[in-house]
Amino acid sequence: MSGIEPTGRIPVVFCFGGVSSEHEISCLTAAGVLGALDTTRFEPYGIGIDKQGGWHRYTAAEIRALRTVQGSFPMVDATKPGALLVRDGDTTCLATLHGDALSDKTPVSVAFPLLHGPYGEDGTIQGFFEMQGLRYVGAGVAASAIGMDKHLMKVACVAAGLEVAPYVTFTKSMWDADNASWLTAMEALGYPLYVKPARGGSSAGISRVKNRDELSAAIEFAAAYDPKLVVEQAIVGGREIECSVMGPLSDGDAQVRTSRPGEIIMHAKDGFYDYEAKYVSSSEAELKIPADLAPEIEAAVRQACARAFLAVGAEGLSRVDAFVMPDGRVYLNEINTMPGFTEISMFPQLWLKSGMSYTALISDLIDQALSRPLGLR
Ligand SMILES: Nc1ncnc2c1ncn2[C@@H]1O[C@H](COP(=O)(O)OP(=O)(O)O)[C@@H](O)[C@H]1O
Ligand SMILES: [Mg+2]
Repeated sequence: MSGIEPTGRIPVVFCFGGVSSEHEISCLTAAGVLGALDTTRFEPYGIGIDKQGGWHRYTAAEIRALRTVQGSFPMVDATKPGALLVRDGDTTCLATLHGDALSDKTPVSVAFPLLHGPYGEDGTIQGFFEMQGLRYVGAGVAASAIGMDKHLMKVACVAAGLEVAPYVTFTKSMWDADNASWLTAMEALGYPLYVKPARGGSSAGISRVKNRDELSAAIEFAAAYDPKLVVEQAIVGGREIECSVMGPLSDGDAQVRTSRPGEIIMHAKDGFYDYEAKYVSSSEAELKIPADLAPEIEAAVRQACARAFLAVGAEGLSRVDAFVMPDGRVYLNEINTMPGFTEISMFPQLWLKSGMSYTALISDLIDQALSRPLGLR
């Protein structure tokens, strides 16, 4: 394998931060992952992407030091020296950029994008790595783009025979041009409805609405995040179940792997798993890991989540979220191709309950990426 250092350690470049609304969460993820990385096998390097999209060189120690201080989340420091990934013959190198001068040029073998949301989880940076001839952890270009888009993800899942909540999708300009027709289409689904930016995350821009006034306001709110919108029927009476999925191991195990599922238990009636419940208030929602499900229902959920992973063509890792009805019926909600990945996040916690530590999980993902061929696959 190219790019292995004389020490024998594999140089890995971790990318974090980013321009999406999940910048801060990504910084926390990066600190967690770097803290747990097996540094006997991997040599870590960092690229912090600031909120304007600028790239900055970070050392592993600087990444590990990112933490929440007095309630304010960490962010990438835009005053740090620039970072550059350049293709040099058949290797890809990371370099520091001071004005016009390059320094610290070093070959890297694989990138680990710890980025959530648009321009991180949506195929854009994955396309950049493809152009650089650099292997990377996680889903490829098309799967990342489909997984990010709550409309395209449903199309792929339905084509694979999975069930999703009935929905309509349109753009802000389509809505502005013809309010009345879209209202008719949305109301035909029946209230309550969820209004979502198609390519959002962390519940940003999402509303649950019960009438037409709330609906119109929710559309304007969601459109501030994304001009493409998805409006769907609320699944009432379903349990919110999530499952961690990983690609096959390189050593011949051809099966997609699923973890034990977990459950999000909301305390408020009609409450949903919003940003506050996810990151701010620990009293609104409870994570039950593993979920208390009858064995046949657990098996059905795991199978549906594995099928969703394959339906979008994911690789590496995904957290697949579903609603499970009392009769065992499973509705796919979403697939996150770069799920929350701090040590206490659902994705690693589910693997822990399934027998894999945070450190082993990170190594597994890098090994999967290294075993993938470059180019079309
Ligand atoms: N159709 C639905 N029925 C019931 N609850 C929903 C529905 N869609 C979303 N929710 C609630 O809203 C939360 C956020 O929606 P989700 O589609 O997962 O967006 P995000 O990508 O921002 O996490 C879910 O975790 C769930 O609590
Ligand atoms: Mg979600």
